[in-house]
Amino acid sequence: MQVPNAGPEPRLYSDLARWWPLLSPPSHYTEEANHLFSVLRTATEPPPRTLLELGAGGGSLAFHLKQELVLTLSDCSSRMLEVSQNVNPECEHVLGDMRWLRLGREFDAVLIHDAIMYMTDAASVRKALQTAREHCRDGGVVVLVPDHVRETFTAGTSTGGEDAPDGRGLRYVEWRWDPDPLDTTYELAFAFLLREADGTVKADADWHRLGLFPRQQWLEWLGEAGFSPRVTADPWDRSIFVGLRTDRPA
Ligand SMILES: C[S@@+](CC[C@H](N)C(=O)[O-])C[C@H]1O[C@@H](n2cnc3c(N)ncnc32)[C@H](O)[C@@H]1O
Repeated sequence: MQVPNAGPEPRLYSDLARWWPLLSPPSHYTEEANHLFSVLRTATEPPPRTLLELGAGGGSLAFHLKQELVLTLSDCSSRMLEVSQNVNPECEHVLGDMRWLRLGREFDAVLIHDAIMYMTDAASVRKALQTAREHCRDGGVVVLVPDHVRETFTAGTSTGGEDAPDGRGLRYVEWRWDPDPLDTTYELAFAFLLREADGTVKADADWHRLGLFPRQQWLEWLGEAGFSPRVTADPWDRSIFVGLRTDRPA
């Protein structure tokens, strides 16, 4: 099977999006959401109440965040938003690209979680951070959680998948590697086995190209965008970038 070159819209977020809850369901995000709560609660005083998530995908993380926050969930994939609407019917959903979205409103917090890596060059990251800045109130906070930074990236594989009560099932192998350590991207390939409710199984594949930048670069971009930045590690050794918006009088 030949995997097509990474395109603007990975298949996982288009024709395969309905399988997302069997690849990465809300139950996989419980501990991560708890950690993010601890970051958010201490980031501002008072703690954030409203949060805009850019690249919220199938809303698996949001399923937990909505317990404490009023969420607006945004994504550039209408099919992923449909998945999230099923999981989080009480949340506002907005279709939009994180580089261009303009809602004309401000939130206490803006989160870009495992979607920020889809910004694969400096210009795209700067646009996404400008969007975050436009939607973050003075005194609010932006939180970025890339899956990897340049300093800690390692090639590897992982496997997983879940079964649905209706008999559908998914199993996958995820394979990541960095063909050129001097550029700003790495590759992620997926092989899927997809079992329909009637028991038929098909194999499918997908390929994503993702951004990979050093920590210092993230901190500089946050500073440029008007945030006071810091970086912290989560329990899974990922870097979490936190930027406070503090407008100084002219
Ligand atoms: C790994 S998924 C996010 C999953 C999500 N954390 C969850 O809990 O379900 C990454 C998402 O980023 C979105 N994305 C990629 N590029 C984007 C862009 N330029 N603007 C907005 N969303 C984008 C994809 O459509 C996809 O839904």
